[in-house]
Amino acid sequence: MTATTYTNRQWIYARQPTGRVGADHYTLRETPIDDRLAEGEVLLGARYLSVDPYMRVQQHTRRTYDAPHPLGIVQQGGAVSQVLASSSAALRPGDWVLGYNGWQTHDKCHASQLHKLDPAAAPVTSALGVLGMPGRTAWFGLMEAGRPRPGDTLVVSGAAGAVGSLVAQFGKRAGCRVIGIAGGPAKCAWLTGRLGLDGAVDYKAFASTEALAAEVARQSGGVDIYFDNVGGAVSDAVIPLIKLRARIVVCGTISQYEGGIDAPELAPRVLQHLLFQRATAQGILARDFVHRMDELRTVVAPWVRSGEVFLDETVVEGFERLPHALNMLFEGANTGKLLVKVA
Ligand SMILES: NC(=O)c1ccc[n+]([C@@H]2O[C@H](COP(=O)([O-])OP(=O)(O)OC[C@H]3O[C@@H](n4cnc5c(N)ncnc54)[C@H](OP(=O)(O)O)[C@@H]3O)[C@@H](O)[C@H]2O)c1
Repeated sequence: MTATTYTNRQWIYARQPTGRVGADHYTLRETPIDDRLAEGEVLLGARYLSVDPYMRVQQHTRRTYDAPHPLGIVQQGGAVSQVLASSSAALRPGDWVLGYNGWQTHDKCHASQLHKLDPAAAPVTSALGVLGMPGRTAWFGLMEAGRPRPGDTLVVSGAAGAVGSLVAQFGKRAGCRVIGIAGGPAKCAWLTGRLGLDGAVDYKAFASTEALAAEVARQSGGVDIYFDNVGGAVSDAVIPLIKLRARIVVCGTISQYEGGIDAPELAPRVLQHLLFQRATAQGILARDFVHRMDELRTVVAPWVRSGEVFLDETVVEGFERLPHALNMLFEGANTGKLLVKVA
C-alpha cells in the first residue's frame, strides 16, 4: 500500500528572547510526514494547541522548575488532536486525544503517550483547560495549599485567566468570599457578573502600590487566602493585608516572566508579614498532581457538565499566529483559557 504524505508545519524555538517574544525567536518549518507507522504508533492531526505562561518561563537561561527549553526543536506544549492513522488497537482514525505534541500540525507517537478523549462527555478543549493542566493547578493548589473554609476571604490575582477564574469559582463553591484582581474594567465586570464574585479590583487603575492596597483592603477587609498568579506589584499590595494564619498560594509570577526571572527585580520584604500573622506561603506545581487526575475528573467533570463550573476560552484562529498568541498572555488579551485553533 502506498503511504499518504502530509506537510507538517512546525514552530521551531530558534532564539532566546530577552523581553517580548517576536517573529525572530521562532522559525516556521515545513517537513513531510507520512502515515507509515510502527506497531502501536498513531499519526495525529493537531486541532487545538495550548499557549501557556510556563513556555515563557522555560525561555530563561536560569533553571527554574524546568531546564531551559532547548533551541532548535519544536516548541513543546499541550495539544488536542485527531487520529489520522493508527496501528494501535487502542485508537482509531477520528478519535480525539490529548498529548504533549508541541506546536506542530502533525505528529507520530506511541498511543501510550496519549490520553483518549470522549467528545460526548465534555468539549475536547476542556482537556487543555478545566479538565487539564489549568484545572489541576486551580483545584489542587486551592484545596491543598489554600485550604479554604466557609467564610474565608479569598483574593485571587490573575482572576480573569484560566487558572484564576477556576480558583475563584472553586473558592465560591467552598463558601469563601472571593475578590478577584484583574486588568481593566471589562475583566472586572466579567468577574462580578459572569463569575459572580463578591468584588473585583482593576490593578491597572492604581498609580501606586499603596493605592492598590487600599482598594484591596476596602473590598476584602483582610485576606485569609491569597492565590497568586502574577507576583510583582500586585502581590506587594496584597501580602501586607493577610490575616492571622493566612495561606499564600504561590502559583505564578507572570509579571516577572519577560526577563525578570533571570534578573529578579527588588521588592518589599514580606517575611515579617508571615511571622506577624503566623501565615504560610506555599509554591505549587501542576505536575505534582498528575497522578491525581482521576480525582479532578471525578469531582470537577460533573460540575462542568451541569454548567456550575465553566472556563471561558479565547480562541485564536490559525497555526501561523502561535508566537503572537504567546504574547497575548502578557498583554492580558485573553479571558479564560487561551487556545490556538489549527485551521
Ligand atoms: N504552578 C503551576 O503549576 C502553574 C500552572 C499553570 C499556570 N501557572 C501560572 O498561573 C498564572 C496564570 O496562568 P494561566 O495559564 O491561567 O494564564 P492566564 O491567567 O489565562 O493568562 C495570563 C494573564 O496574566 C495577566 N498578566 C499578564 N501580565 C501581567 C502583569 N504584569 N501583572 C499582572 N497580571 C498580568 C493577564 O491578565 P490581566 O488582563 O488581568 O493583566 C493575562 O491575561 C501564570 O503565572 C502561570 O505561570 C502555574
